Amino acid sequence: RVPDPCAIVLFGATGDLTARKLIPSLHAAALASELPADFVIVGVGRRDWTDEVFRAKLREAMPNAEGWEEFARRLVYHRSDFNDDYGLESLKDRLDQLDATYGTQGNRLFYLAVDPQFFEPLVKQLGRAGLIADPFAESGPWTRVIIEKPFGHDLASSQRLDRELQHTLDESQIYRIDHYLGKETVQNIMALRFGNAIFEPIWNSRHIRSVQITVAEDLGMPGRRGAYYDNAGAIRDMVQNHMMQLLSLVAMEPPIDLSADAVRNEKVKIIQALPRWSEQEIKRFVVRGQYGPGSSHGEQVKGFVEEEGVNPSSRTETYVAMRLTLNTWRWAGVPFYLRTGKRLPKTTTEVAIQFKEPNIPLFEPDRETDHPRSANQLVLRIQPNEGASLSLQAKVPGSRRRLREVRMDFRYGTFFTSAPAAYQRLLIDAMLGDATLYTRRDEVEYAWKFVDAIVHAWDAENRSGRAITTYPAGTWGPSQADELLAADGAVWRRP
Ligand code: BG6
Repeated sequence: RVPDPCAIVLFGATGDLTARKLIPSLHAAALASELPADFVIVGVGRRDWTDEVFRAKLREAMPNAEGWEEFARRLVYHRSDFNDDYGLESLKDRLDQLDATYGTQGNRLFYLAVDPQFFEPLVKQLGRAGLIADPFAESGPWTRVIIEKPFGHDLASSQRLDRELQHTLDESQIYRIDHYLGKETVQNIMALRFGNAIFEPIWNSRHIRSVQITVAEDLGMPGRRGAYYDNAGAIRDMVQNHMMQLLSLVAMEPPIDLSADAVRNEKVKIIQALPRWSEQEIKRFVVRGQYGPGSSHGEQVKGFVEEEGVNPSSRTETYVAMRLTLNTWRWAGVPFYLRTGKRLPKTTTEVAIQFKEPNIPLFEPDRETDHPRSANQLVLRIQPNEGASLSLQAKVPGSRRRLREVRMDFRYGTFFTSAPAAYQRLLIDAMLGDATLYTRRDEVEYAWKFVDAIVHAWDAENRSGRAITTYPAGTWGPSQADELLAADGAVWRRP
């Protein structure tokens, strides 16, 4: 299916996301003939650029792009000040003209890649300028608005933002992006679970001992990220969104079909089943840390508080680990261990399902594995080395009863040539009006509820003067994270 003709309007066109992700994704979609024959990409920003400057800047960011000249003909720039209440009136005229030139028929996909403080005023201005089509019209042009993260700073601000957006937009026009959902390997979690009859019968507390979800990054604060990150911390930057999405896909019940609401109905139940912890429990089950100076791939690197834009006395966490259980029939009592952090030894995202050991140990277990029990483990490698591997126990040749862990491995690269980038998939879906891979309002809110309780407990600790634990850059985080698992006789994997 190819989307309707449309104008793709990027607010924040002079920013990093546009040059690094959005334009390369649209370019790749154009090459793959996934864009409609009639489209135009309109960059909107506050800088005084011309179409030529916009094209030249993007060209610098992707000097080897194939077929650039033809693609660049559909790139235009429109200067507009979002601070000015009537700043978007001229955009309306420009888009009307572009509809005539490019045949885009009044369909518009707005992408708000701007500072979150502008989400609400921008949408209001879009409404005021007559740029939002009637969502209930039987025919005629459509409008969809993609909102980047963070969607609010806590539950109250996300609800406020939603209320404001709903003055102008219908929920069906709002696309809250979480780019992890666009990753091929993340979508494959559902395919693996529900497209193979062998997994579902054992995907529960009877057969699974625990689940580990790791989103590790070796990076610190590249570019000018320090100021944003110091304000957000790992819990808001990664846990509230990407990790909750991974968790819900791993733990959800089968949806009745693959429609947007059927899938999201099941995902939200998992987020609703998260524990409601007391402050004491948060102390017990959640570990936070901040990276200090250390070394990353053999190079000396700064600690978080020395990074540009970070408050030198910041107590913001750059690492979070937690042990949680889900209050559902399927998962009762199964620990889920989640961890994410910056400046860890490597960049890797994986989900590891640890199965139970046989009821009766007829054989001698392998003493060399990194998990203490002689059992099966299914590791879904989200990135890099995309794929999955299942570890099995095999008899060591020659011995009668000694076991050794062996692996069955699936690599994407072996079976598939390439996968579309996450943003490419998500942009096309929005043009097609498919919100399955976008998060719904209730998912966002329940995730904030969970995160807010943790943030409040930490704020109370900070007020009582407690310092945040630090870990040397380039290590796997504070040692308290190991203790979280030790209580269950488990250890973190070393991916
Ligand atoms: C972003 C976070 O949402 O995801 C960043 O704000 C993080 O801090 C990034 O680095 C990770 O995305 P990916 O696709 O590189 O895993």
